[in-house]
Amino acid sequence: MRRIVTLLSLCLALVSSSCGEKPKKEENTFEIKNEVKKPVAEATAATIPQSENKLGRRVFLLCAACHNVVKGEPHKVGPNLNGFFGKRAGMKEGFVYSEALKNKGIVWSEKTIREWLENPASYVPGTKMAFVGVKKKEQQDALIAYLKEVTKE
Ligand code: HEC
Repeated sequence: MRRIVTLLSLCLALVSSSCGEKPKKEENTFEIKNEVKKPVAEATAATIPQSENKLGRRVFLLCAACHNVVKGEPHKVGPNLNGFFGKRAGMKEGFVYSEALKNKGIVWSEKTIREWLENPASYVPGTKMAFVGVKKKEQQDALIAYLKEVTKE
């Protein structure tokens, strides 16, 4: 009888201790999940301004993984593009550009941005921008109009 009681209390102890552990574990996984979720949610909310120019915005989704456009937002893999029209390439503070882009002496205009979009690596050999390009003229037009609208300072 005493053995049974001991066994029972042992079981109880085991059950209660594992019960005691459970919430801890859940807390931990919750924390981890939260950490992962937060930046993603912030990134998508902040990066892709709405526009009447639906096609332009849709093409910009190709860029949004690497570029913010809203003033004050951080650089991502690529620099924040706010206010880049009319400026010299490779001048955003706090972003480390390739020597290739900095030394090319580009000033961003409709003409230069179109050449860049067409094929970044052939326009600026050695650029860090790993992007195949936007080839269709219709998509380039829409994207350039969208960029002009949403990167205004
Ligand atoms: C995989 C990430 C990635 C994608 C996708 C991408 N870019 Fe970039 N972009 C970069 C990087 C990195 C640089 C810096 C290039 C360098 O230093 O050579 C850059 C530079 C630029 C610049 C020059 C900015 C400056 O300050 O001179 C422009 C403009 C630009 N990207 C536009 C675009 C557009 C528009 C798209 C979408 C069609 C796009 N990028 C897609 C990573 C990306």
